[in-house]
Amino acid sequence: MRKTFLLVSMYLLLAIFLFAGGNSENTQPVQGDTEGRVLVAYFSWAENNDGNFGVDAVSTSSLTRPGNVEDLALFITSMIDSDIFSIQVENPYPANWDDCLARANDERRNGEHPALSSRVRNIDDYDIVFLGYPNWWYGIPMALYTFFEENNLSGKQIYLFCSHGTGGLARSVDQITEALPESIISRNVFDINEHQAHDSFSIVRDWLMELGFQPEED
Ligand SMILES: Cc1cc2nc3c(=O)[nH]c(=O)nc-3n(C[C@H](O)[C@H](O)[C@H](O)COP(=O)(O)O)c2cc1C
Repeated sequence: MRKTFLLVSMYLLLAIFLFAGGNSENTQPVQGDTEGRVLVAYFSWAENNDGNFGVDAVSTSSLTRPGNVEDLALFITSMIDSDIFSIQVENPYPANWDDCLARANDERRNGEHPALSSRVRNIDDYDIVFLGYPNWWYGIPMALYTFFEENNLSGKQIYLFCSHGTGGLARSVDQITEALPESIISRNVFDINEHQAHDSFSIVRDWLMELGFQPEED
């Protein structure tokens, strides 16, 4: 009887020890912990136009690199350990504003997913994806859908960042949420007006801190 009691006590002690140890190891990482391998993927018109700058084209700063979304992507990758990937279509959009609007609108209406010119080497290398885009026609550029088809983002933590005109985020977050039902999409979305993107380093840093990252500043 005494032996059984001793044995049960030992098991209980062992269980308590294991439970306590396990708990400390299983501590939930802070959201956005850089333990996860991070990819910053983005689409920007400046890297997706045919370079035929006409009078119209010169009037928009969006055509010269870095583009607005590219600016945001570069800020992010400069502050946290990450790889960067520029989503680019095989057939670039016209640099002429009206022609670009028209093609983007056609693609949207027809549900086209334009072919991309390059691929992420191995999307499985990443647990966290920052996904950046401009508002195009009240939503996301159709090239993002191609990116989703070519890269399995299921189970990954996604942080969205967007630059836009007066239209704000419009339908973009809903579209991405619908397209990526298996991904964990943070509700804390960064968005900024096209005229402020270039000077937004410190607000991007604040956003990264809100997400739980510890941005480095060189
Ligand atoms: C084809 C096209 C469609 C656009 N549609 C919208 C829109 O519906 N709403 C809006 O607020 N801005 C719209 N914009 C403006 C861009 O979202 C904005 O200029 C953004 O900052 C561009 O980022 P980028 O320089 O990285 O391409 C559009 C721009 C283009 C080229």
